[in-house]
Amino acid sequence: MCGIFGYVGSPGASNTILTGLKRLEYRGYDSWGIAVKHNGSIDMTKQVGAIGDIDLSNKLNRACIGIGHTRWATHGGTTVNNAHPHIATDGSFVLAQNGIVENYQHLKAEFEKKGYSFVSETDTEVIVRLIEDTLKTTRDLTTAVREAFLTLTGRNTIIVLSADSDRIIAVRNGSPLVVGIGDDEFFFSSDTLSFADKTSSAVLLENHEMVKFDNGKLTFVNVMTGKAFDPQIQTLDHTTTTIDKEGYDHYMLKEIVEQRDTIREAVQYDESEFAPLVNAIHNAKSVYTVGAGTAGFAAGQIAYFLRTVASVNAVELKSYETLGFENHFAKGDVLIAVSQSGETADTIEAVEKAKSKGVAIASIVNMMGSSLIRLSDHAFLTRSGPEICVASTKAYTAQLSWGLVLAFASAGKFKDGVSVINRVSKQISGYFTDELFSRIKGIASGICSNEHFFVLGKGQHYYTALEGALKIKEITYKHVEGFAAGELKHGVIALIEKGTPVFVIVGDDEHRADMYTVAAEVKSRGAYVIGVADRTSTLFDDMIPSFPGGIADPAVKIIGFQLLSYFLGVALGNNVDKPRNLAKSVTVK
Ligand code: M6R
Repeated sequence: MCGIFGYVGSPGASNTILTGLKRLEYRGYDSWGIAVKHNGSIDMTKQVGAIGDIDLSNKLNRACIGIGHTRWATHGGTTVNNAHPHIATDGSFVLAQNGIVENYQHLKAEFEKKGYSFVSETDTEVIVRLIEDTLKTTRDLTTAVREAFLTLTGRNTIIVLSADSDRIIAVRNGSPLVVGIGDDEFFFSSDTLSFADKTSSAVLLENHEMVKFDNGKLTFVNVMTGKAFDPQIQTLDHTTTTIDKEGYDHYMLKEIVEQRDTIREAVQYDESEFAPLVNAIHNAKSVYTVGAGTAGFAAGQIAYFLRTVASVNAVELKSYETLGFENHFAKGDVLIAVSQSGETADTIEAVEKAKSKGVAIASIVNMMGSSLIRLSDHAFLTRSGPEICVASTKAYTAQLSWGLVLAFASAGKFKDGVSVINRVSKQISGYFTDELFSRIKGIASGICSNEHFFVLGKGQHYYTALEGALKIKEITYKHVEGFAAGELKHGVIALIEKGTPVFVIVGDDEHRADMYTVAAEVKSRGAYVIGVADRTSTLFDDMIPSFPGGIADPAVKIIGFQLLSYFLGVALGNNVDKPRNLAKSVTVK
């Protein structure tokens, strides 16, 4: 979702900002813009679509300060006019925003009455007019930004560049904001990855904190109190911040293959590090898991592991559907939040609600220093390295592997959990063969002209069916539904017709016979049955071969779906790393 990048330092700011924006591309965007300040005026470049290979070094290559933005449209279509930054009527400053101004309609109507005009359809421009209006009385840009910011409702992070002096002001609420501190240069960004090649020192701002660069110096202020504070400078771990396809055609395939290591990395914890969370789980009246999208399915699977391995009565909640549970949240309960980015607005909101009721928050997150980590009483990192492909693959299996070990630890069998993961990790290493890839490519080319697909799973593979279907949807734009196999006869079977591809997940578990029955039932209605299984069966027209992963099988069987999605997406000519309409980090509701 939207990304902010500001820079102050040496000449060539335009290209430095472009490079920073490219490193934010993975978040998803549909238009972009940059504004640099030179000789007392602001020069802007805005475009719809991807940044591509544009070089701005001939244009204002002497500028040393500027801001940029990648926009994922919320209010107003994908147009150059709606792209950020937005400029003040008198050209005295420009502004870019991540988030949504929830009271923008009210504010816009007020300013229209006052005679202000709007050139875009965005909620962002309302902030610009608000600052302009406040400037009339305050006469100082920093004060006006602060006062305007306090008028906004919703989660908003903004960055402002002044035209008349070398000044950048940025304020955080909701969407992340980090400041990279280099040698005589500073970076203001939505994440640390964007400047990880330039500096390893950074300040991670909290909500309602403001940073100002003015007169060659940085100042940090709490916007609520107006008081300056000394920031905590953190040192980033660069080993996990490299962004490189490493010879693969796409990040998606690279990240799928990386699972041979990442599922093991996610459980590199001592038993003592799990102990406080295990203790909280044992003492809790209710244990909830929460997430959205793929992370939501991982949350469901983790609740399943806790129930089946440790007899913990864990309940899965969807981040965006917690309203009915709010009255039940109570001190002593535990909520486990699952997220790759740690910045998903729906998940953060659910966590904040629970936290306000005294619920202990645990999280399993991939991005260091993210909001969720900072909201957590028990924070764990998946340590999967950057997941650049918008569709989540290695983060999902890492979340599952961590959740499985948590369940084992909760049952007093931490070491057994780690052994299961170590074994499966070794098996996954041998799973990625040219033979497997050709087989799945063959299946993809046979079904890529179909428009409707169904995925059926049961028990431990209920969430595999949901996540498998989501993966194919995201990369192929086809209609794919994942169902509990038990639902089949209660309605879904009406959709099966001659040639409909139906994926039947058969694990090495107590549901094997039921899944064969399901395969037979859809086959007798003409379905093209593709088994996702460890054993062949005459019921299958084709098969994605796998190996038995035992209790960790959900982290194994999903890999077949990830590879199928990838090869289908490539066969269809889709942009597999950046599927249409999707954003990696969903920082708005
Ligand atoms: O960063 P998060 O894991 O919290 O993101 C949650 C979802 O937006 C995310 O899993 C989404 O569903 C992915 N596109 C799945 O591939």
